[in-house]
Amino acid sequence: MDSNDINDVKDMAKYNYKKSEPWPDDDVWHSYTYKILHKHIQDYIDELQLKNTQIVLNAGCGKTTYKTCAAIIYMDIIEEYVNLFEDYIVGSIENIPLQDCSVDCVICVGSVINYVDIQKAMSEFSRVLKPNGILLLEFERSNSAEFLFTKKYAKTVFMQTYQYNNQIHYLWMYNEKFVLQLAEFYKFNRNKRYRFHSISSLLFRFGISEKKAAKFSKLDYWLQPFSAFFAHNEILIFKKNVLL
Ligand SMILES: C[S@@+](CC[C@H](N)C(=O)[O-])C[C@H]1O[C@@H](n2cnc3c(N)ncnc32)[C@H](O)[C@@H]1O
Repeated sequence: MDSNDINDVKDMAKYNYKKSEPWPDDDVWHSYTYKILHKHIQDYIDELQLKNTQIVLNAGCGKTTYKTCAAIIYMDIIEEYVNLFEDYIVGSIENIPLQDCSVDCVICVGSVINYVDIQKAMSEFSRVLKPNGILLLEFERSNSAEFLFTKKYAKTVFMQTYQYNNQIHYLWMYNEKFVLQLAEFYKFNRNKRYRFHSISSLLFRFGISEKKAAKFSKLDYWLQPFSAFFAHNEILIFKKNVLL
């Protein structure tokens, strides 16, 4: 099968990731993304102080793991990534083969949700999480400075083509408000947020190379108050409502 024959976002994701690593190590922008994500998610998990009787679903895990006392179920569409781990599922986050209310925490980061039908994925996360369960979600935003002064900026949803890993990736880009409204519909309350790649997206928009612009992501912590208009990525922490 040639990449030109693929017109479905999911098939394209599977085709691409099957042939490559989840995070290319020669790409400065994405190395920063991975570093920021891993640090923040590990910090949130530490705060949760999960017990060894609890279960975490790492949804679209790639090869990434986190330190926790809880048991982790690793899930991805690529078998070669998940079979590195003891407890794994090969499958899509749009259709999770786990029982209702069976996990305490879902981690879905690294733009996994940008590859899928977000409505189906949010519905599945809500279904498999126990009441008061935690969802750690990260996504790429249509409110990114990358799209400033274009028709795409802050659009509810659109498909963007990216060159990543020397491959063509199709990603659904989402407006922040849309993600929050969808989360609310699926009974999630937002606890925390962290937006990143703010100034880096702005610099990239105005012609600075990804490589140079990425280094400015160090300033993201200080730029949180302005990040709503510029940030390319966002981490959201939700708690599932007890009352359904
Ligand atoms: C950039 S990697 C991120 C991996 C990991 N979450 C992390 O943060 O390191 C994106 C991952 O999404 C996975 N993926 C894409 N579509 C998926 C789907 N429908 N269900 C589950 N995983 C998916 C890919 O196989 C790949 O491992």
